[in-house]
Amino acid sequence: MTLDAVLARIDADLPQATDRLLELLRIPSISTDPAYKADCDRAANWLVADLQSLGIDAAKRPTPGHPMVVGHVDGPDDAPHLLFYGHYDVQPVDPLDLWDRDPFDPELQDTPKGRVIRGRGASDDKGQLMTFIEACRAWKAEHGTLPCRMTFFFEGEEESGSPSLVPFMQENAEELKSDYAMICDTGLFDSRVPAITTMLRGLLGEELTITGPDKDLHSGMYGGAAINPIRVLSRIVAALHDDTGRITVPGFYDGVPELDPALRAQWDGLGFDHGAFLGDVGLSQPAGEQDRSALEMIWSRPTCEVNGIQGGYTGDGFKTVLPSKASAKISFRLVGDQDPLAIRDSFRAMVRDMLPPDCTVEFADHGASKAGQFDISAPAYDKARQALSDEWPDAAAYIGCGGSIPIAGHFQSILGTPPVLIGFGKDDDQIHSPNEKYDLESFHKGIRSWARILDALS
Ligand code: BES
Ligand code: ZN
Repeated sequence: MTLDAVLARIDADLPQATDRLLELLRIPSISTDPAYKADCDRAANWLVADLQSLGIDAAKRPTPGHPMVVGHVDGPDDAPHLLFYGHYDVQPVDPLDLWDRDPFDPELQDTPKGRVIRGRGASDDKGQLMTFIEACRAWKAEHGTLPCRMTFFFEGEEESGSPSLVPFMQENAEELKSDYAMICDTGLFDSRVPAITTMLRGLLGEELTITGPDKDLHSGMYGGAAINPIRVLSRIVAALHDDTGRITVPGFYDGVPELDPALRAQWDGLGFDHGAFLGDVGLSQPAGEQDRSALEMIWSRPTCEVNGIQGGYTGDGFKTVLPSKASAKISFRLVGDQDPLAIRDSFRAMVRDMLPPDCTVEFADHGASKAGQFDISAPAYDKARQALSDEWPDAAAYIGCGGSIPIAGHFQSILGTPPVLIGFGKDDDQIHSPNEKYDLESFHKGIRSWARILDALS
C-alpha cells in the first residue's frame, strides 16, 4: 500500500525533518517588533526556497507589512483543491531571563514527558507549519508528484493582528480560492486524542494610554494635589469586571449564546480534567464564572483580560515619581455573534466617561475579529477525522478553542472556502511564553497525520 511507503519514509526522514525545522526556528521572525523586519523577510525566503525544492511554484509576495508566501502545484481534476495555511512569524520572547536557553538557538531535549523541540515558534507555528510541508516532501519522494492540486499560503503577521491579510485575500481572492483551507495552528485535545477545531473565539485588542500632568513629577512635591494617571488607569481596569466576574462594558453580552445542550453533552463526554489543567500551571481553584465548566469557559464564553500594564518607574530599586502617563493593553475574547466594533465603541465610551478632569486618553487599535463556528457537514471533515483516528491512540474529537485565528473566518467570508482546523499542539507547549516547545511526537505524528489526510482526501 503506497500510504505505508509514505509513512515509512516519514519515519526514516524524521531526523532530517527535525534539522530543517531547527533551521527555520533559528530565524527570529518576531512580527510585532520592527527590529526583526529583515528576519521576517528571511523566514519568508527560507519557506519559498523550501517549497521550490518540492517543485512548487512559490514566491514571496510583498504587503505593506511582512511578506506572504504563496505557492501552487497542479493536480488531477477529480481530486479536491486543498489550500494549506500556517504562519511563519512568532511572538516576542520577553521576559528573556525566564528562558533556560536562547529562544532562537533551538534544540532537542529529553524531558520526563518525552523528547521536545525547544525554541520560540516550535509549536506556534513553525513546527506545525512544517508538519504539512514534510508530509508533502515524503509524498513527493515516494510518488514523484503531490496527490492533488494545492495552494500553500503562509503569513508573517499572524501574531501581530494580521494587518495586511484581509486586503491581500481580497486582492488575490481568485488565486486563493480552493475546496478546503487546511489551517495548522491549533492543538490536540490531549496526547491520545487528536482534534478538529470547529469553534474559535474572536478577539478585540485595545490599548489605552492615559495622560495627566505634562511631565513626570516628584511625588512628594506634587502627590495629593496632582492627578496620578496610574491611579486613574487602575480604577478603570478594576471597573471592567464586577464582583462575580461579569464584564461591565455596556452591551458586551449582546450576541453571546447559551451553549447548545447537545454540544455541552459532547464536551462533557470528553472527560476534561479541570484540576489537572490548572495543576499544570501551579493553580488549584477555578476562577471566572462559578456555574460553568472549564471547557465551557475557555471555548464558549467571552472574556476581558489585561495583557500588559505600564507606567511610572518599573526598574530595579525605587523612585518617588508621579508619572505623566499610564497605559494598558487589553484583549477581549469574543463568542457567538458579539460584534467587535460595537464593543470597541462601547469600551472607549465607558473609559471616556470615567476620565477625571485634566486627564486625556488615547486608544490604539490592535485588531478586531469575530468568533468563528464552522459547519462540519462536508464529507472532508469526516474523512479527515477518520484519518486522524487511524494515526493516534484514540478517536479524533471535534473541539472548541479558546484562542483566535481570524483567518479561519476570512476564508469563509472572503473566499467562500470552508476552513478545516487541524493541529498537534499541546496545552503545555508554553506558546507565547518562555521555554516554548513542541513535542517530537506532535511533530512526527503530525507529519504522519497529514500524509493520512492527504491520502483520504485525494
Ligand atoms: N496558534 C494561536 C491560536 C491558538 C491558541 C490555538 C491557543 C490553539 C490554542 C495563534 O497563533 C494565536 O496566538 N493567535 C492570537 C490571535 C492574534 C490575532 C494575535 C491569539 O489567540 O491570541
Ligand atoms: Zn499560531
